[in-house]
Amino acid sequence: MKRFNINKISWDELDELRRPTPETTDFDRVVAGAVSRRGFLSGLVAFGSGAAVMGSGMLRGSTALAQGASRFAFTPIAAQTDFTIHVPEGYEWKTVASWGDPLFSDAPAFDPQTGTTVEGQARAFGENTDGMELFSIDGREVIAVNHEYANLDINLPQNDEGAPVSADDVRKIQDAQGVAVFEVAEGENGWEIVIDSPYNRRITHNTPMRIAGPAAGHDLLKTEADPTGTEALGTFNNCGAGRTPWGTYLTCEENFNGYFGSTDAAFERPEGFDRYGIELESGYDYEMFDARFDISKTANEPNRAGYVVEIDPADASSTPVKRTALGRFKHENAEVTLAADNRVVVYLGDDERGEFLYRYVSNGTYEEGGDTSTLLDDGQLYVARFHEDGTGEWLALTPEATGMDRAMIHIHTRQAASAVGATTMDRPEWVAVNPAKAEAYCALTNNKNRAVKPNAGGDETPVGGPNPRAENNYGQIVRWRPTGEDHAADGFDWDLYVMAGNPEVHDDAYAGSDNVTPGNMFNSPDGMKFDSQGMLWIQTDGDDSNEGDFAGMGNNQMLCGDPETGEIARFMTGPNGSEVTGATFSTDRKTMFVGIQHPMNFPDPEALPRSSIVAIRRIDGAVIG
Ligand code: FEO
Ligand code: CA
Ligand code: CA
Repeated sequence: MKRFNINKISWDELDELRRPTPETTDFDRVVAGAVSRRGFLSGLVAFGSGAAVMGSGMLRGSTALAQGASRFAFTPIAAQTDFTIHVPEGYEWKTVASWGDPLFSDAPAFDPQTGTTVEGQARAFGENTDGMELFSIDGREVIAVNHEYANLDINLPQNDEGAPVSADDVRKIQDAQGVAVFEVAEGENGWEIVIDSPYNRRITHNTPMRIAGPAAGHDLLKTEADPTGTEALGTFNNCGAGRTPWGTYLTCEENFNGYFGSTDAAFERPEGFDRYGIELESGYDYEMFDARFDISKTANEPNRAGYVVEIDPADASSTPVKRTALGRFKHENAEVTLAADNRVVVYLGDDERGEFLYRYVSNGTYEEGGDTSTLLDDGQLYVARFHEDGTGEWLALTPEATGMDRAMIHIHTRQAASAVGATTMDRPEWVAVNPAKAEAYCALTNNKNRAVKPNAGGDETPVGGPNPRAENNYGQIVRWRPTGEDHAADGFDWDLYVMAGNPEVHDDAYAGSDNVTPGNMFNSPDGMKFDSQGMLWIQTDGDDSNEGDFAGMGNNQMLCGDPETGEIARFMTGPNGSEVTGATFSTDRKTMFVGIQHPMNFPDPEALPRSSIVAIRRIDGAVIG
């Protein structure tokens, strides 16, 4: 089978290669060249045939910059292009955990030239960290972190381009991904892994899981190995994360489709595979050595992935649970908050060009110490529709509205959302809920296909609403305030907190909103997290070429945004080639843990590159978040 080397291309590019952009499109691509940036910000500016009309009210955050002193407790830093990490004066950073670091004393030490071993990887820190959360458990600090994907050439350096040549190779790659749960403690050398802590655990592509919620037990989830359709193995492409008020970790399965392939080139894919990008070619060659990933042999296996998985970090022997009530799509993160009446609300993005933003509302209510076992099983899933006038609504995905039965809504969630006319978005990444007010933010990272081609389901992607620019390579952050300050309300008001752009290269809408300046510019907002002070930390996963449209932006970075003033300041830059993703705080809020994913020659330029978690502290020991 044709093989796409996941070392060389991103997951998005993989989807594009397998589903090419047509030469001609249904949309004209005109972006009015005469549109001035000033004109855009004052409203009444049309782009292309979508004729988006943006009132200035949509950009409240960007037009109300503070005149007084900023609330940032740091001096913003300049863009960087080198291969290390930079933080502001008065702050320091140190590596806490890197790919291959043993979590248990029976794992071999990491070898700088060959990495880990097949036996050792499942007992060691995985590769490519992403979403993470720190839990305080009986006075101990326990981090749960995702290992989103694996670079084949780094994990299998002895093989040509890292291509797996045996079942052992596949097993090693499978064990480098999933989730790590591990205790950390702060000593004389700063924060370090507590080796052999009873909390330490690796969850991989082969860990037993329970499937719960509306899709559990459905025929489409049954396999020969699991005729009940309720006992799956593994969690895949764990991207963003979340945490519940009852102290569990939520890990989100994103580009799960890329792990499945077919050894039979003539295999006819089942209905629904197209929408999720499940093709005959995989990104990892698992199907060559592990029949579970060969769709010509185990056609239902992909239906058992694409969910949010709940993990109890306090019990290393607990069985993770796939919560199908939260829908099946390319999950970014799962941001949990409570409605006015204590029902559980979860915001969820589907990160693919032109896919949707979702919300789940439980039927039961959360009470501290009460039974939480079905709060993420029994509830209603909604999808967002944004209107041009700055209002929006959550559309319930019910059998009546979608024409699908309850289980199918939670297996083919994208199709259900298309059926009710949800708004196609510019790749929804993380959602973050402001702890200081009833307000939520979603990073719409970029969408080069906006007004160019429809989404995978054929839904059009006109410019307009929170997606106001055609061929959007910079991204924006939309925020909404629920009606009545209740996250369970059906309506909301929205605006754009920021439109990323380059004011040195462009003088139209691609210059970005007013809170983007030559001093803080960035592209492709992705990870987001509020701190206890109500400040929004924004991480980027974009083009770090520092050339052309991206000149002056430098490496991927982490910025801090003030929701009240719209002000945004650069706090940290990552090594060139890496993405800054995942953020969580120590219990005392004096340390911020941040992830560095897919670096090219970090931390040791002479050794294999290692994705790492770093700890950032103020040198004076004061609280930073
Ligand atoms: Fe794994 Fe959408 O980022
Ligand atoms: Ca992401
Ligand atoms: Ca991204």
